[in-house]
Amino acid sequence: MIDIISTDKQYVANTYNRFLIELVNGKGSKVYDKNGKEYIDMGSGIGVTAFGIADEQWANAVSEQATKLQHMSNLYYTEPGAMLAKALCEKTGLKKVFFSNSGAEANECAIKVARKWAAENKGEDCYTIVTLCNSFHGRTLTTLAATGQDHFHKLFQPLTTGFVHTPANDIEALKKTVDENNVAAVMFECVQGEGGVIALEPEFVKAIAELSKEKNFLIIVDEVQTGNGRTGKFYGYMNYGITPDVVTTAKGLGGGLPIGAAIMGERVENVLGFGDHGSTYGGNPVCAAGALNVINRIDSTLLTEVSKKSEYVFESLKNADGIESVSGMGLMIGIKTVKGAAEVVKAAMEKGVLCLTAKDKVRLLPALNIPFDELKKAIDVIKEVSK
Ligand SMILES: Cc1ncc(COP(=O)(O)O)c(C=O)c1O
Repeated sequence: MIDIISTDKQYVANTYNRFLIELVNGKGSKVYDKNGKEYIDMGSGIGVTAFGIADEQWANAVSEQATKLQHMSNLYYTEPGAMLAKALCEKTGLKKVFFSNSGAEANECAIKVARKWAAENKGEDCYTIVTLCNSFHGRTLTTLAATGQDHFHKLFQPLTTGFVHTPANDIEALKKTVDENNVAAVMFECVQGEGGVIALEPEFVKAIAELSKEKNFLIIVDEVQTGNGRTGKFYGYMNYGITPDVVTTAKGLGGGLPIGAAIMGERVENVLGFGDHGSTYGGNPVCAAGALNVINRIDSTLLTEVSKKSEYVFESLKNADGIESVSGMGLMIGIKTVKGAAEVVKAAMEKGVLCLTAKDKVRLLPALNIPFDELKKAIDVIKEVSK
């Protein structure tokens, strides 16, 4: 029999430091390795499988579309993409959607929108996009440039120019950055995910919104990780009472298939015209059918459930032995443990719980519909191995 781990090691590029387990199937928030060992999945493929593994409704929507029409070029109209765009606009109040295949590409689209809008409205020398230190916006050369973490930049120079980084939650520094640059847009994550699951302070987000009016620049919110119910609201920015010009998302949107979206508000809805942007797979009918199923199920009942589960996790971990602090929002949770995060994740895995890390924290991104008893069991294991 072929050994998958050694085959992967031999033939797949060495970009992922994988755990030595081979996962073969799952259901909901449970996943099984090739020896039949059961794990509770507290990572959901880094916030992707919004309704868990092999969710029946999602799988039906996807397979029905796959047997009807799996792909046509964007030269023709198809139903799932149109209906998904409608649903996203209705749920956000924004106006138009460009579909991509990933979060990085959704951000690329937002960056192009900001540059074209600024060139047309503020002059061609206005192109600077301000992003935050410690942010993460993707792995393409442009979204790496947007990412405010130097260690991702090393050895990949030159990156796309036109980005400056300012510290999160520092209003004075933000004002100075905006004064010193000809700013087209400010782009940020409401909760920095890869940066360590850190929610922005409401005053800081309010200051961005006020400055955007005063200085006439766009607000781009990167909801690749925070979007689609993850924080207990439909999108993370809704916790802050602001109206962005562009919202980008991916991950949980597709529920397990690759789809991203740049959702554009009134100020920029017509910035992109024929030929300005495109993607062969963007809005692919199968991915869009799965995403439409996900989006239609993120209702107030589910969001309340996400918030309740979040409260449970925060309360349960707050004063536990070996836990220094808990951060994040909704079911996007960072845990600073006394022991190293990698050690806790490894010990939890041995006891049948799969967790993620983000910087020096253990990171949890379970499926939004994880059953309470499974969540409780996983948290008990994390507490036990953190002691
Ligand atoms: C906030 C944020 N933006 C962008 C990305 C990049 O998304 P993708 O890996 O789908 O390109 C990520 C991925 O972790 C992310 O968390």
